[in-house]
Amino acid sequence: MSKKWTPASWRTKPIEQAPVFPDLEALGAVEARLATYPPLVFAGEARQLQTQLAAVADGQGFLLQGGDCAESFAEHGADNIRDFFRVFLQMAVVLTFAAKSPVVKVGRIAGQFAKPRSAPTERQGDVELPSYRGDVINGMEFTAEARTPDPMRQAMAYRQSAATLNLLRAFAQGGYANLDHVHQWMLGFVADSPQRERYETLADQITETLSFMRAIGIEPDSNPELRQTDFFTSHEALLLGYEQALTRVDSTTGDWYATSGHMIWIGDRTRQPDHAHVEYCRGIKNPLGLKCGPSLEPDGLLRLIDLLNPQNEPGRLTLICRFGAGQVGAKLPALIRAVECEGRTVLWSCDPMHGNTVSLNSYKTRPFDKILSEVEDFFAVHRAEGTHAGGVHVEMTGKNVTECTGGARAISADDLSDRYHTHCDPRLNAEQALELAFLIAELLKRERSAREIKVAAQAW
Ligand code: TRP
Ligand code: MN
Repeated sequence: MSKKWTPASWRTKPIEQAPVFPDLEALGAVEARLATYPPLVFAGEARQLQTQLAAVADGQGFLLQGGDCAESFAEHGADNIRDFFRVFLQMAVVLTFAAKSPVVKVGRIAGQFAKPRSAPTERQGDVELPSYRGDVINGMEFTAEARTPDPMRQAMAYRQSAATLNLLRAFAQGGYANLDHVHQWMLGFVADSPQRERYETLADQITETLSFMRAIGIEPDSNPELRQTDFFTSHEALLLGYEQALTRVDSTTGDWYATSGHMIWIGDRTRQPDHAHVEYCRGIKNPLGLKCGPSLEPDGLLRLIDLLNPQNEPGRLTLICRFGAGQVGAKLPALIRAVECEGRTVLWSCDPMHGNTVSLNSYKTRPFDKILSEVEDFFAVHRAEGTHAGGVHVEMTGKNVTECTGGARAISADDLSDRYHTHCDPRLNAEQALELAFLIAELLKRERSAREIKVAAQAW
């Protein structure tokens, strides 16, 4: 691999999952235009995120990353963003309390528009058309017009990302994230849940903690940390022309940053070490995610780590494992041992969604118990290896959709047709997402007591 990196050097490499744009001139014009637009995020924020992720990689804290599988133009609106953020914050409170350490909050949002597909075309009857690749590329409708990749969509995705990010920043800093409110919402969820007894203890403990703090004069009005939070954005860096157009030099350091989001990740289908996506990502300074599926072997992983994080900077690289329930025990230990043996610092996160997709009544769905089982195995393996289960990566929405089966309300195969709205993969609905947070809280508590026992034993 040539050492010389530029924002365009990926163009000389083989590439997977690239859409075929019929009008290259129009594509070039849009990319040139985007290159003049303001960055969506500031390099200093990306560095701040990396600092927070470095603490998690070191065992201090937990990463919560989640959002839509794919954002869509049709569902862009304040209510959807608010409902997502509302559930996400509740999950964060539950996890913070259980872990007794900070939760780094990263949305799959404000840029998550491009999707890798298993086949380049889709056939319905006698008609074959390009596959839907996400709203930033083409439309979902099965017509030749909608499915033809349209560069103008990139300008729309940029505008939507800017508007979404603007509202999220306002929510995060402007009072919506007030801990007292978030806690009240969470109590509402617990009161309504069929699993109420299971969640009540933790909810009550948070109530008591907040009442005690208020009693001694620590309250949101006088303490910004109780009413504000840091929220970061992330997406899969799949459409490299768009990413390149938003790649800028940070004037304070002279380094290149992707300014389309704070963190970007490389998908399991595009992680070939000598191909375009790895080439692009190695040259930017943002924190990176790497999706690790069952076909990734220890040697291949080490090679990717060398390319993506040659200086072994903590917080630079998050390994997002997505093996599928029942496969974690067979795949994860070897990867952990290889990384530990080479002394590489990474953050281990678990994506329990993508390895657990099944087809039911012709719907793509995911059983909640499989999702939970993958997370449990992830924690168990880390416990056995003595490493930190550092985060989760979930596809979720704040709406009451019926896309994943199971959960406390036991959504069945027949319920799927009620409110199946996703533009791509099935997401946890608001209740299922919070339930998952409560169940992960139990795992985090167990991890914490195991650590305390170890520390006590060492002191003795
Ligand atoms: N600022 C702290 C944090 O981000 C506490 C906090 C305030 C918080 N509002 C929150 C935590 C909402 C989770 C959710 O961790
Ligand atoms: Mn997905």
